[in-house]
Amino acid sequence: MNRNFTGFDLTSHADRSANDESTTDAAGMRSEGVAAMSLTEHPAWKALEAHYHVIKDLHLRQLFADDPKRGEYLTAEAAGIYLDYSKNRITGETLRLLVQLAGECGLRKRIDAMFSGQQINSTEQRAALHTALRAPESELIVVDGLNIVPAVHAVLNQMAAFADQLRSGQWQGYTGKRIRNIINIGIGGSDLGPVMAYEALRHYSLRDMVFRFISNVDGTDFKEATTGIDPEETLFIVCSKTFTTTETLANAHAARQWTLDKLNDVRAVRKHFVAVSTNVKEVSNFGIDPANMFGFWDWVGGRYSMDSAIGLSTMIAIGSENFRAMLAGFHAMDQHFRTAPFDKNLPVLMGLLAIWYNNFFHSQTIAVLPYDQYLKRFPAYLQQLTMESNGKHVTLDGSRVNYQTSPIIWGEPGTNGQHSFYQLIHQGTRLIPCDFIGFCQTLNPLDNHHNLLMANLFAQTEALAFGKTMDEVKAEGTPDWLCPHRSFEGNRPTNTILAERLTPHTLGTLVALYEHSVFTQGAIWNIDSFDQWGVELGKALAQRIVQELESPSEPLLTHDSSTNALMRRYGKLKGA
Ligand code: F6P
Repeated sequence: MNRNFTGFDLTSHADRSANDESTTDAAGMRSEGVAAMSLTEHPAWKALEAHYHVIKDLHLRQLFADDPKRGEYLTAEAAGIYLDYSKNRITGETLRLLVQLAGECGLRKRIDAMFSGQQINSTEQRAALHTALRAPESELIVVDGLNIVPAVHAVLNQMAAFADQLRSGQWQGYTGKRIRNIINIGIGGSDLGPVMAYEALRHYSLRDMVFRFISNVDGTDFKEATTGIDPEETLFIVCSKTFTTTETLANAHAARQWTLDKLNDVRAVRKHFVAVSTNVKEVSNFGIDPANMFGFWDWVGGRYSMDSAIGLSTMIAIGSENFRAMLAGFHAMDQHFRTAPFDKNLPVLMGLLAIWYNNFFHSQTIAVLPYDQYLKRFPAYLQQLTMESNGKHVTLDGSRVNYQTSPIIWGEPGTNGQHSFYQLIHQGTRLIPCDFIGFCQTLNPLDNHHNLLMANLFAQTEALAFGKTMDEVKAEGTPDWLCPHRSFEGNRPTNTILAERLTPHTLGTLVALYEHSVFTQGAIWNIDSFDQWGVELGKALAQRIVQELESPSEPLLTHDSSTNALMRRYGKLKGA
């Protein structure tokens, strides 16, 4: 065995990890039998707690000095995505224990349960089968005794036919004009996926069509999205899984009115509105012809729906071929997640590293920093994916967790962030693990801009890891009093995700990478990553409050004194 200082077994890593998975999995089937064992009681968890005290003061400078080649082998690659995780505060022992933890928590069984359509969303008694949305036609995935793959492909074909009609100008508005503007109305997963994908793949989009997105119930969002465009040339896609979401319905009704104000005939609605939903009844109640509805299923969670019919605006923008390439990218990552050993498995590694910092270093957040302007909405997309999935306080059996769950996700595209919040990441008092995302080829060559961009990405990860010591600063002739201000502790962990080029296929693999990393974390925390009960209370209160705000007579307010006073003040100052 060729073991180096930091404990990486360089010869038999894969074998050992496979071993860890199988032995510990058998011992740790939490969902079957050992359900009573809390996460913090698991042997691997306890070992990680002890191990943390060994690691916590170990510097990345030291780790690289002791093992100069770690940057070459602490990497994993799949489906065109290269992950360098060497600049993390880990040793071979850390990895071994994290993989052991995954085994003890039954991650393998959880993965199999998800892919095979078991009701892993237990509080809603549903499967979570977004992976079926990108399964090839030949696959067989059975839910309630029925193979669902043909239905998935039927909807994809329906979307493709419709997208072709719009892209070719064959689908005309009520007055015979060509549709030039597509406005997606939706919120949460019915907005963030479409808007993120549109921005990410704009390079591949039809440039003679305009794509806009309305999500916020703030009238400003509607007004700005509809300013300067002609209702006769505009198609609204109303996206709502439930078709009961207040914001979306309010915006859809405003859009209907905006259209009718110009077209003056309710028959125009069928030419200017289509719906994406699971709720045919509410779609037709709204006045949209069910023939113009694109369906999906309750086993697709909102935040996992961008590759369902919710992606209709994406398909219209980039065409069905490109959309299918994106699905193939998702599928490639799905296959990798499903089959690769944990220590070679990109989503598992990223998920386990997130656990390592979240639960042992007690980091609060993860910054996601895409070095590609097209990915500017990617952090916002990941916020819902991660925090709505894993922002949970009880385990599957309803007991209060005694550990932190989801980290807070945030970020902005590089290099903009460097001139704003990176100061805190470099020299602040918090530990903020970061994911850097970059591409070897640019879609928009411009002088040496891409080299400048990527030089910044590489420089940031190097600076964050290695820092600059007081001695180094002093050696440059810096006066003593200034040295503390100009030194960098370093030891700030990063992942670097590098792909060749941002294509529809790459975007699919990237999104699936994060989906499965989130899944991995949720499986370890033993929570339901597919429900979102936490949004309900605010929704219910808002329904009551809006009635009070709109009451013709002064209502008797029975909220707390703060809410009552705020509402009274609003009532006085809001005007007519
Ligand atoms: O309220 C949260 C949520 O249910 C999200 O999970 C979902 O993506 C969003 O609202 C929109 O829901 P719908 O697609 O049903 O309008």
